[in-house]
Order: sequence, then structure tokens, then C-alpha cells
Amino acid sequence: MAVTPTPATGACGRIDVAAVKRDFPLLHVHVHGRPITYLDSAATSQKPQAVLDRLDWYYRNINANVHRGVYSIAEEATNQLETARDRVRSFIGAKSTAEVVFTKNATESLNLVIQGWGRANLSPGDAVVLTHLEHHANIVPWQILATERELELRWVPLTADGHLDTTHLDQLLDGAKAFSFTAMSNVLGTVTPVRELADAARAAGAISIVDACQYVPHLPTDVQAMGADFIAFSGHKMCGPTGIGVLWGREELLDAMPPFLGGGEMIRDVRLDGFTPNDLPWKFEAGTPPIAEAIGLGAAIEYLETLGMVAVRQHEIDLVGHAMQVLTERFGERIQIHGPVNPQDRGGVLSFAFDNLHPHDISQVLDQHGVCVRAGHHCAKPLMRVLGLQATARASFYIYNDEADVEALAAALESAADFFML
Ligand code: ALA
Repeated sequence: MAVTPTPATGACGRIDVAAVKRDFPLLHVHVHGRPITYLDSAATSQKPQAVLDRLDWYYRNINANVHRGVYSIAEEATNQLETARDRVRSFIGAKSTAEVVFTKNATESLNLVIQGWGRANLSPGDAVVLTHLEHHANIVPWQILATERELELRWVPLTADGHLDTTHLDQLLDGAKAFSFTAMSNVLGTVTPVRELADAARAAGAISIVDACQYVPHLPTDVQAMGADFIAFSGHKMCGPTGIGVLWGREELLDAMPPFLGGGEMIRDVRLDGFTPNDLPWKFEAGTPPIAEAIGLGAAIEYLETLGMVAVRQHEIDLVGHAMQVLTERFGERIQIHGPVNPQDRGGVLSFAFDNLHPHDISQVLDQHGVCVRAGHHCAKPLMRVLGLQATARASFYIYNDEADVEALAAALESAADFFML
């Protein structure tokens, strides 16, 4: 296997961003003749050489289907896939690999629970609690099921600074069967109190389902300490390839759930009169799984573990705090940063309004300066409506961003204002 340099964690456990940047080939390309400043990791992260090498190694050396062949490379592919599963298990503190289901992304993980657990356990009139912070992936599948099963959807509102307003949470949870919420908003960056929310759900007799897509890549994760019943996340936001997601669930709940998709791999036996499902976790993995992608995710986890997730979290608190300070000092009331004011309460996501510019105009002018930010509703239209906004511009930071990237963003915003002659 190709050997690639390991990333550096510098003195005092801080991330050596210059060393990390060297590991990411895409961060060395130029856009419109300028060095790229990639500030859209909430949409997808860039991939280190170690992950690219692992994918290449897999396809060149052991590409074969898994859990089927008895020849050497098929056995090695199976072994590598299951090793990657165990890496995920250890990264999130799960008890067993039986609790780690590979999917194609967090959206599929959420659909798996909502359709699998929801159809088996919810009846007309049952209530499910969601929050105003949710991504469409944690709203639309519930709306589909709510129509089919005549469910009541209840919503936890927000405070003025973008936290969940839990004042009436007990009333909202009263009689509810499930509480499905994000661990970190992809728009406001709000980090929610997962343990507290999961405990409240359990006390009310509801299960808790956590969209941790923006959380697992950025904060140390211990699913047992979080106290929830299901947790969904994607590989591509944590330095891994696209096409791989994870559903973690408590074994007893996964065990009791019917399969979501049917086909090969998820069965133990099939007869003309029915089938017997496979053991966990394969019961939920119909068809050929994303083998290379799972193995690539394993390499991504190795990379993040070398940095240390405590250092990753601290780096993002420092950088987002620095960005808030720089942008506010430079632009004053011309910039409005949405969401919690304390960097400790947010992940590396900064949504903002700037002058009276449309976020799409901001994003296009920034692109001319090589600065990549996302503009739009961020797949959270109900939240946008609650905030009274059509769209925001969003810069999102990760392990390879530093103060120079914040400076590039600020300079490009100045240019955007000049361009529109504000
Ligand atoms: N959910 C991803 C984002 O926030 C795609 O950009």
C-alpha cells in the first residue's frame, strides 16, 4: 500500500494547518488564476492524499465483491470492509460493529430509521417531535411517513440567537413516540445539547434520532455518552469519499426493526414463501455495498485520529471565533452573522448577510477570487422561513483552513462591495 505522510499535530496538541494543507491535493489548485480558498466543507470536505491512495490501492489490488467469493482478493476485500466498519465503531465509541450500518449517506441513514423503525412502530395520531433547525433530510422523510400514517409533527422553536428554545420541550414530548433532531445546524452552526435532548426524549418514552452529519466530522463523538438511540452521518464531510454513510443504532432497536431495502446480502435464506433476514448489520445492507468508499472512510478516520478530534474541535472554535471578530471589526453593521454569538456554541459554520448583496452574487464574486462559499437555502427551507430569509452566504471551515483563509474571505468581500459599488 502507498505510504503517505501523516498529518501533524503541533505543540500543545494544536493542528499544524500548513502540514495538513500539504496533504490535500485539491487545496493546491488555482481558480480563475488565484489559489483556491475552500470554505465549503459543510457541503463536502476535501480528501487527503491518504484517502485517495487507499481508494487507488483498493481498486488496483483487491477489487472484488464482498461476503461472497472464497478466493484471496475477495476475502481480503471483505476483511478490509469489515476492518473499516470496526474503525467507525471505535471512532464513535459504539459497543459493537453490529450497530454500525453502512449506507450511501446520512440522508439514506435517516430514511432507513424513519421508514424502518417508523413504519413498524407508528400509528395514526402518533406524534413525532422535530426542530426548526432541521435539514430537509430530517424533515421530508418524516413528512412522507406523516402523510402515510397520519402522524402529528411537532416543532421545537428557536431562540433569537439560534439556539433551540427548550422552554416547552416537555409539553412537546408529552405522548410523542420519537424526537428527531440535529446535533449541529448546517446553517447556523448551532451545536445542540444532544445528551439533554436524548434524556428528555427517553423520560417521555420517545426514542431519539440524531442527524449528526455536521457533528461527527468536527467534534469528538461518543454515541454511548450522547445517549441517543440512532445517529446518522456521512463519510464525505469527514475527509472520506462520497457514497458512504453510517447509521449507528442501539442493537436491540436495530434487531427489532424490519429491513428497509430487500435484495442480496441482507438475507440469511430465501424461499418461495418468504425470507429470513441476515444478522446485524448486514440485514440493512441490501445489494453490493459501497466497498471502496467504506475502505476510504476507514482511511479518513485514521487521518482524523492522527490529528485528534479534541484538537479538531479546538481549532474550529478558535478559527470561527477569529473569523467572527475579523469580519465584525472590518465590516461593522454591514455584515450580519447568523446564529449563536459564542464560538463555543457553534461548529465551523458562518452564515451571513453582507450589505444588501444577494448571497448568490456574493458567492459568484468570491469565486472570481478563488474563494468557495455556498449560497442558498442550504436544504433548510423551513429554517429560512423562520429566520425570514430567502438565502444566506455560508463559509464553513475545517482542519485545513487558517487565518489566511479568513483574510482571503474578508478581502474578497471588500471586492464584492466594490464590484457592486456599495
Ligand atoms: N447538507 C450539505 C450542506 O449543508 C450539503 O451544504
